[in-house]
Amino acid sequence: MLVLGLESSCDETAAAIVQDGHRVLADVIASQVDVHARYGGVVPELASRAHITNVITVMETALQDAGITLDDIDGIAVTQGPGLIGALMVALQTAKAISYARNIPIVGVHHLEGHLSAIRLEDEYPPFPHLALVVSGGHTSLMRVDGPGALVELGATRDDAAGEAFDKVAKLLGLGYPGGVHVDKLAQRGDASKYALPRPMVKKETGLEFSFSGLKTAVLNIVRQQGVPEGQGLADLCASFQATVVEVLVRKTRQAAAQEGLRHVQVCGGVAANSGIRAGLAQAAEEDGFRLYVPRPIRCTDNAAMIAAAGSYRLQRGEQDGFDLSADSGLPLPSRVQV
Ligand code: KG4
Ligand code: ZN
Repeated sequence: MLVLGLESSCDETAAAIVQDGHRVLADVIASQVDVHARYGGVVPELASRAHITNVITVMETALQDAGITLDDIDGIAVTQGPGLIGALMVALQTAKAISYARNIPIVGVHHLEGHLSAIRLEDEYPPFPHLALVVSGGHTSLMRVDGPGALVELGATRDDAAGEAFDKVAKLLGLGYPGGVHVDKLAQRGDASKYALPRPMVKKETGLEFSFSGLKTAVLNIVRQQGVPEGQGLADLCASFQATVVEVLVRKTRQAAAQEGLRHVQVCGGVAANSGIRAGLAQAAEEDGFRLYVPRPIRCTDNAAMIAAAGSYRLQRGEQDGFDLSADSGLPLPSRVQV
């Protein structure tokens, strides 16, 4: 079964062709970094307009890369939400128009369902049940994935998401947008012991909840008192911040795996591309004896292959959505999630 995936929930216009839910035949991502960089963050209206400009070209490029035409497509999977409403609508309406014109079944996919499914595009993916650490720009949570349609949230952030913390700290430090990548790069040549930052919510009684806004404030206070450090100092501050986030994420992941007795753990979402989190979790896996699954970096951040992978399950079972399918910026996580 060939599935066309379309994604436009934030600042990436993406299209992909995935065969039988696992094999990627094409994966095209048009980044809008250049559009938003000068504003230091995503400008929703500009994002919508750029999606409109790019969506057809991106889709046609994906079809070309896969060496197929729309006639070969068996189903369309499109991000329904959550995300920026104007941005979401672009891929969704495009998908509905194609579905209607070509009589191709369509399914709406929850964006997190997509992130959780990215791992199935790798050669090795976790069996059920497994633990998932979801760390993106909008979400930070630990979930137990018991099987098709059985997803239990074990803990989430009380305030900022991990990616949001990276982006806000990057902005404070005058680094570019999107912030995570810049902090990650600088952190790799910094000394994490140079700045003592608070480790939020690490005490046992806080359970599996996260909080990152205090950490951001701690960095803000350093900047207020000392100004933005230059040269090596900047790298050291990035390293200290990153190490703190990683320590908290790794500690809670170990705690959740032990508590739930889970031997298979996946991490997904944009922050899963971070070098520190990948290394920290790999070390924890070795020490604790769980098996770690991490998508390749390009499939951690937003892409359409993960949306196609997530939608394939429903399409393969003959399910489809109607033309009343509409974008939902605050779409709740569906209970039928299949990863
Ligand atoms: O999953 P994603 O592409 O979009 C959302 O669904 O939110 O995640 C984007 C987030 C941004 O906050 C970005 O700064 C962060 O992921 N990110 C990173 C890295 N690459 C992307 N954070 C830390 N280190 C990275 N290498
Ligand atoms: Zn995402």
